[in-house]
Amino acid sequence: MVAGNWKMNTTLQEGIQLGTQIKNALQDKQPACEVVIATPFIHLSKMAELMQDSIVKISAENCADKTSGAYTGEVSAAMVRSTGAQYTILGHSERRAYYHEDYDILRQKVLLALENGLKVIFCIGEVKEEREAGRQNEVVKAQLEGSVFNLTAEQFANITLAYEPVWAIGTGLTATPAQAQEMHAYLRSLVAEQYGQNMAEDTTILYGGSCNAKNAAELFANPDVDGGLIGGASLKADDFMTIIMAR
Ligand code: 13P
Repeated sequence: MVAGNWKMNTTLQEGIQLGTQIKNALQDKQPACEVVIATPFIHLSKMAELMQDSIVKISAENCADKTSGAYTGEVSAAMVRSTGAQYTILGHSERRAYYHEDYDILRQKVLLALENGLKVIFCIGEVKEEREAGRQNEVVKAQLEGSVFNLTAEQFANITLAYEPVWAIGTGLTATPAQAQEMHAYLRSLVAEQYGQNMAEDTTILYGGSCNAKNAAELFANPDVDGGLIGGASLKADDFMTIIMAR
């Protein structure tokens, strides 16, 4: 899978324009991967409509930890699903850091997303100090145990993992292909321990963090790197297309 995460970028009009460019560029291509675009909530319905006759699937970037009711400003998983979106990102480091989303909140969000028919792109990753202290493995393990390893195997089959080292996000500092491969192999071993070897092999594990048109092929060449979650470079149709075709 190659997934774009637009974050808090593009007005609705700009988003439709970018989505149209990507849709048109994909028309005569046969990518070897699933293509997903995660957009702000307000774009979802229009984007899902735009991509109806395209291979592109639409994702939200978040959803609420409550079902419905008096939670001003929140958007529920059911609302996201009703737009035609098929995925939501959850656990992005920006949500963990700036909006204080902890393991418990994320566990709730994951359950509600799945109950409402959304697939989840679940992000994990260590900050710079944790990497420098050699603690990256224990950090990602705790993130998985805290929010997704409670799922049944049937539920977990709808989870895509995205390893996003926080020190690589938006910094231009990419994990080396060797660092990515090492971590992805570790993540797959954790899934194997929890759900068995077949599930581990079937789980898609994306790399994210300054992945771009130049370094994508090298990252994706690793056996345990199944694609990418792309921030900045997904906002340029040409670059995003290069990354899709590198998978
Ligand atoms: P950048 O590709 O801009 O580093 O962002 C990665 C990311 O956070 C995707 O979710």
